Amino acid sequence: MKKIIEKDYQSLSEKAALLIKEEIEKNPSLVLGLATGSTPLGLYKKLIEMNKKGEVDFSQVTTFNLDEYLGISSSHPQSYNYYMHKNFFDEINIKKENVFIPHGETENPEEHCKWYEKKIEEKGGIDLQILGIGGNGHIGFNEPGSSFSSSTRVVSLSKETIEDNSRFFEKKEEVPKKAITMGIETILKSKRIILLSSGENKKEAVKKAFKGKVTEEVPASVLQTHSRVTFLLDEKAEDF
Ligand code: F6R
Repeated sequence: MKKIIEKDYQSLSEKAALLIKEEIEKNPSLVLGLATGSTPLGLYKKLIEMNKKGEVDFSQVTTFNLDEYLGISSSHPQSYNYYMHKNFFDEINIKKENVFIPHGETENPEEHCKWYEKKIEEKGGIDLQILGIGGNGHIGFNEPGSSFSSSTRVVSLSKETIEDNSRFFEKKEEVPKKAITMGIETILKSKRIILLSSGENKKEAVKKAFKGKVTEEVPASVLQTHSRVTFLLDEKAEDF
């Protein structure tokens, strides 16, 4: 695995944007896997800026998001669908039909998961997957204990994740208890993976993922088994 250390969050975001731009230049019809959360916000801001200046073109790019809360409408301000449109898609020249995010309101979640997995395959697989990491080492909503051979599925969120995410909801009871997430195997099928992490509170999780034991108890540790992974960190998230 490769490790890139940037001075701070700003330069980490700029570097990530640059790496994506390079991939799109090499392959204008890139299939890009995306994450939500606070970490990629700076990256999206930078990509919007570059797109508006004509430095990067999303007109042929396809995207697949990692996850979505289950039982939440796409217009709910805390849905990942809403987040992605507000913070990224509405501001760039991507075609709406090339944007894929699991449906939080699906009537048949199991069927929907299968459909999502098939759609990724149909598009030729994910060329570049962007990941964040949870304090407990989760990737997507694959919590500790998730099978390394899991595919897109419905999962229950851990207490820790519900706690972490409650800052975005008015009341903790409002945080959905379930989600749809790409599986670990789905993520591992990506041709290239870039994991972003910033700040002191992720230090332990990043260290375990990068050089700890490969175990289902630390989902991100599975990345050590992939041939093309880059950890893109700021100084505060790195101490090893
Ligand atoms: C979001 C996702 C999560 C986050 C992780 C880190 O789509 O898949 O795994 O990447 O929870 O979140 P932040 O960046 O808010 O610390």
